Amino acid sequence: MLEAAKHLLTPSKRSNVPPFMVMDVMAAAAALEAKGTHVVHMEVGQPAAPAPATALRAAQTALGARIGYTETLGIPGLRARIARHYAEAYGLALDPARVVVTTGSSGGFILAFLALFEPGDRVALANPGYPPYRHILSALGCEPVLIETSAATRWTITGRALLSEHRKKPLAGLLLASPANPTGTMMDADALSQLIAVAEAEGIRVISDEIYHGLDYAFTAETAANLSERALVINSFSKYFCMTGWRVGWMVLPSNLVRAVERLQGNLAISVPMLSQVAAEAAFDGKPEMEAVKHGYEENRRILVAGLPKAGLEKFLPVDGAFYLYADISKFSNDSLDFAKRMLSEAHVAATPGIDFDPVNGHNFLRFCYAGSAAEMHEAVTRIGKWLHT
Ligand SMILES: Cc1ncc(COP(=O)(O)O)c(C=O)c1O
Repeated sequence: MLEAAKHLLTPSKRSNVPPFMVMDVMAAAAALEAKGTHVVHMEVGQPAAPAPATALRAAQTALGARIGYTETLGIPGLRARIARHYAEAYGLALDPARVVVTTGSSGGFILAFLALFEPGDRVALANPGYPPYRHILSALGCEPVLIETSAATRWTITGRALLSEHRKKPLAGLLLASPANPTGTMMDADALSQLIAVAEAEGIRVISDEIYHGLDYAFTAETAANLSERALVINSFSKYFCMTGWRVGWMVLPSNLVRAVERLQGNLAISVPMLSQVAAEAAFDGKPEMEAVKHGYEENRRILVAGLPKAGLEKFLPVDGAFYLYADISKFSNDSLDFAKRMLSEAHVAATPGIDFDPVNGHNFLRFCYAGSAAEMHEAVTRIGKWLHT
């Protein structure tokens, strides 16, 4: 084939981001289910519960009217309601002008990275971590810099580790998540505040992914917006409000970035889907329903923390928040993909191999999502116990 013609068929190099290995596990689970086997699903990180009834009702009503584009930064009522949420949840008086509605937090990352960084900029991330952070950064031409975390530092980045990386070659940004995915660990307000101060003193811009706020069990999560007006906060209706498929989230921006993000979002997406925004505004009235869902996760967490050690998996990271438990499987295997596949085919429990989240040590870990029912958690513990003991 002619070189020019070949070029017409070749995807760009930057589109070459790795796939999720969990897709293999999900495909194998679907094949088992097609044969009539009951699988306990703990591989996908999404709530089993639906969106709050208040959100569903608001969306149904809105369907009767015209669904059009909205203001690029989001409908004013939703931006104001999100700002009020900061007063209620964190005691922070937030100007709604700093709130931008996004297409899930995923849309927020693209806008944040484009608004903050230039191609080639280095951005620090915790390892293990949520893979799209590094994949979006690299697709945009930035360099993700993975900083190893360990039990000694509660699996979070420390100021010392950040500075040591910065001294090797300057960093432009730091992305934090607390509670984190896949580890479920959290930073307390002091640790978060100190790390932000260290970063900002060096001119490193801080992005805080707060998507699992509200799902905190060990202690209450602090927002970076309360600690620095220069930090950029990303959040979403996907997890606490059980609205993954609605694709709606938000950012709290430093004031001087609002216009840049408005220009970017206007060009990239025009606006976030109106129906989802209307539903999101009403979701805040469904908090009692969501608190009941959260209590369900707390019960699930209790079942796993008590049951997994008896089943044979006694080593896992502190189960502070989100709905993840990150278990060390090195006693049984150092190939987490193979272990996950065998656990699925023999015990019929699906979990995510650590290699999706951690290219260095992920072969020794499995992530369990406990957003299902208590009955499923009991079943998972029993099945894993039997499987590991035979
Ligand atoms: C840590 C973290 N951040 C962001 C996201 C993206 O969520 P969404 O785009 O639905 O808001 C996820 C999804 O699993 C996540 O785990």
